[in-house]
Amino acid sequence: PSLEKEFLPMYFGWFLSKRSSEILRKAGQVFLDELGSLKAFKKESKYFTSEDPKIKIDLTSYFVKRPPGVLHCTTKYTDFGKAAGAEDYAQQEAVRASYGKGFTLSISGLFVTTKTVGARVELSEQQLLLWPGDADKLQATDSLPKGSRAHITLGCASGVEAVQTGMDLLEFVKLEKAGSKGEEVGEIGGGKLQYFGNGMWMLTLSKKIDVRAIFSGYYG
Ligand code: 2AM
Repeated sequence: PSLEKEFLPMYFGWFLSKRSSEILRKAGQVFLDELGSLKAFKKESKYFTSEDPKIKIDLTSYFVKRPPGVLHCTTKYTDFGKAAGAEDYAQQEAVRASYGKGFTLSISGLFVTTKTVGARVELSEQQLLLWPGDADKLQATDSLPKGSRAHITLGCASGVEAVQTGMDLLEFVKLEKAGSKGEEVGEIGGGKLQYFGNGMWMLTLSKKIDVRAIFSGYYG
């Protein structure tokens, strides 16, 4: 136990298998391609480009910062032990017992904002045991369901840090909770597309994507 006190990872999370990472990356790619060529998206393209709204928007090059290697879903950012609640999280029985174990995560949606593109993760009861209590807030007064922030970053726009993806997802969840269902744009390849304004697009997958992942820590 004393070892953990001395050196905690940069973050804990689920690390997707290489195969699952490839499948999810591909799904994200297809989504960006489809979204970028959609009429409804082009109409709102001012959030992404100053160019002619009639031309196809290359969202793949818009989200220039893409995670190298395998994808992951952060549970707790511990900043090598410096982050608030880092020690407490690392000492939890569920965290210790699950370290190095395999899980299947369910991807229920894909989303795009002007800053990030990500996958929405629907956590099971068992997986929620590994979710920290303080992650699902943008403001101190927010009370959103546990696990609302669970996501996998697929890409960030130039100058945007990955931590933004979770904040963007929380923004969608807040809008959903406030009763804003977004504008139903219709069905595209993978499911139902909704537009929430301000360049915020959410695809709810008609068939959830299951990905294999190992719960572990990333040491940088
Ligand atoms: P992400 O989970 O949205 O991808 C290393 O920086 C990883 O930790 C990234 O994957 C990043 O975002 C996540 N991260 C960085 N800072 C964070 C923070 N303050 N809170 C939660 N996650 C953070």
